[in-house]
Amino acid sequence: MYRSLLNSIGILCLAALWRPVAAMGSGNTAYMRRVLLAAQAGLDPSLVLDDKMDFHSLISHPPHQEPPPETEFVTIPIDHNDSSVGTYQNRYWVSEKFFQPGSPVIMYDAGELNAQNLAALHLASDTSFFTRLLKEFNAMGIVWEHRYYGESAPFPISLDTPPEHFKYLTTRQAIEDIPYFAQNFTRVNYTDVDLTPKGTPWVMVGGSYAGTRAAFMRNEHPETIFAALSSSAPIQAQVDMTSYFDQVYRAMVANGYSNCTRDIHAAYQYIDGQLAEDTGSAAAIKRLFFGEEGAQNSNEDFTGALTHLYDYFQGYGLGGVNGNIAQLCDHIEHDPSTNQTAGPDGVAAMYGGRYAAERMAAWPLLVRVTNSNLGLNCGPENDTLPVNCELGKPSTDADTISWSWQYCTEWGFYQSNNAGEHALLSRFQTLQYQQEICNRQFPDAVAAGVLPATPEADRVNSEFGGWTVRPSNTMFSVGEFDPWRTLSVLSAEEFAPQDVVWSSDVPRCGEVRDTVFGYVVPNSEHCFDFQLISDEGKASMEVFKSALKQWLPCFVKGVGGEA
Ligand SMILES: *[C@@H]1O[C@H](CO)[C@@H](O)[C@H](O)[C@H]1NC(C)=O
Ligand SMILES: *[C@@H]1O[C@H](CO)[C@@H](O)[C@H](O)[C@H]1NC(C)=O
Ligand SMILES: *[C@@H]1O[C@H](CO)[C@@H](O)[C@H](O)[C@H]1NC(C)=O
Ligand SMILES: *[C@@H]1O[C@H](CO)[C@@H](O)[C@H](O)[C@H]1NC(C)=O
Ligand SMILES: *[C@@H]1O[C@H](CO)[C@@H](O)[C@H](O)[C@H]1NC(C)=O
Ligand SMILES: *[C@@H]1O[C@H](CO)[C@@H](O)[C@H](O)[C@H]1NC(C)=O
Repeated sequence: MYRSLLNSIGILCLAALWRPVAAMGSGNTAYMRRVLLAAQAGLDPSLVLDDKMDFHSLISHPPHQEPPPETEFVTIPIDHNDSSVGTYQNRYWVSEKFFQPGSPVIMYDAGELNAQNLAALHLASDTSFFTRLLKEFNAMGIVWEHRYYGESAPFPISLDTPPEHFKYLTTRQAIEDIPYFAQNFTRVNYTDVDLTPKGTPWVMVGGSYAGTRAAFMRNEHPETIFAALSSSAPIQAQVDMTSYFDQVYRAMVANGYSNCTRDIHAAYQYIDGQLAEDTGSAAAIKRLFFGEEGAQNSNEDFTGALTHLYDYFQGYGLGGVNGNIAQLCDHIEHDPSTNQTAGPDGVAAMYGGRYAAERMAAWPLLVRVTNSNLGLNCGPENDTLPVNCELGKPSTDADTISWSWQYCTEWGFYQSNNAGEHALLSRFQTLQYQQEICNRQFPDAVAAGVLPATPEADRVNSEFGGWTVRPSNTMFSVGEFDPWRTLSVLSAEEFAPQDVVWSSDVPRCGEVRDTVFGYVVPNSEHCFDFQLISDEGKASMEVFKSALKQWLPCFVKGVGGEA
């Protein structure tokens, strides 16, 4: 069944690829980052929804943690092709605590977010899988912040950032940062040790987009990255990612919630019917969910806001956090008039789609989850504050803005409705709407003609390899129901290559083979191998460790690669 994180210590892949869906970067909200961080720090993530104030004080003093290492900066060219553009300072952190000369440097790539809290966790906390990895391998640890995030931004990031300042936020530029940094890496404590990739094996670990980067780094720069762990990595750029919700559907069915999938589906058929009928019925259904002010939103923004109900899924599965899908389902399937739980057919089969929609709207956590994610006050949830229920506003959060630029220009990953029998969203959640979100977020770039009409996914795939990426000394892990599995090398979708075979038998050092060296973590979601509470996730991490033990001895000093 689903897992509970309550009162247990969980490490999530905080560099979780956010869902660029609806109402401006749903999933990639400051709120969701706090939820995931709480879990990483061993706090009950439900605190974020239940007790915002207390959470803020807790998160600034996480338990079981040593002081984080000092912040360091390296000077990097803004454009690796044109030194005249100038340089910027890129932030990183190093832990020498476990290091013994002759052992590897292991880099945790934080991916698309401010990496400060991750550095504190992964370099200074015993509750981190990464700290444990450093300890086991006597390794030097580095946490790397991606350009344009946190304090590694060449230009200030806000709604006012001119489009030309985003020009250097590309997958390619960000990949070239790592070899540039690594080639001159030294430590004052180890002046007699060659810590650059010529003299020391560098291992890159990343989850989600950072996992994609880890695989690409090994593929493009084997002279820099000797081995890699690519966790939950969508290596294929693709505009249409409706498959995201097929995975949610499959997880629900596999875990006993098929009645709920039918009811949500029926609820949306009713909701969509009301939205389409006339402005009066459309306004009424919006009011039913979000109160009087909810009625002013477009059909797309309204149904987009409702997709936030799935936001916890990739990090926690169906359970775990207060506001989760299991709670929503239990609410829908419970009949308050008889105090009975619906059978396998669900409630809509008996009472119709309108009833299912009304049960959904009446879920007490629905407005809270949406408000928390979007920073709004629909309802109003809080009577003492002004009502604020504009569901389609562009995001003002810097990390969200930068990631939006990346997916709107290159990666796509548009998570619209998985139309058909398994649909879990409204039919107003279209690919065109996803494009509209991008256009709304970057109106100046649209006006200047620098935002592509649609993300350049094909170009990214031909540049980096997409599905066909098979670097040696690289492990690919992914959760069975991880929405991001659908665009990974271990994808089981119809649109993915069909002949892919994977095995957790460790390949020989440097061996390139067709069989993917990987691990599909059963009944799990995003980056569960970075969690310490998931036994299956830990099993996957053990495979990676045994692979590293096999590969490291073949590193040849001075050559910077395998024998
Ligand atoms: C530099 O220019 C070449 C040729 O146009 C291109 O292939 C490469 O991706 C560019 N590098 C970066 C970091 O943009
Ligand atoms: C890195 O080191 C090389 C030689 O060791 C040197 O030529 C180069 O200028 C250095 N780069 C930076 C950015 O310091
Ligand atoms: C390494 O050097 C720093 C000064 O840069 C010092 O504070 C630290 O204690 C040294 N660490 C070890 C393990 O010797
Ligand atoms: C409803 O059922 C649950 C257990 O199935 C029970 O604990 C609860 O008291 C019941 N409520 C009412 C109002 O009968
Ligand atoms: C129906 O839904 C409820 C609540 O979500 C769940 O506990 C139950 O197992 C489901 N029943 C069947 C037969 O699918
Ligand atoms: C409502 O907002 C006020 C002002 O921010 C705050 O003090 C109060 O705790 C909030 N009430 C609830 C129930 O969240």
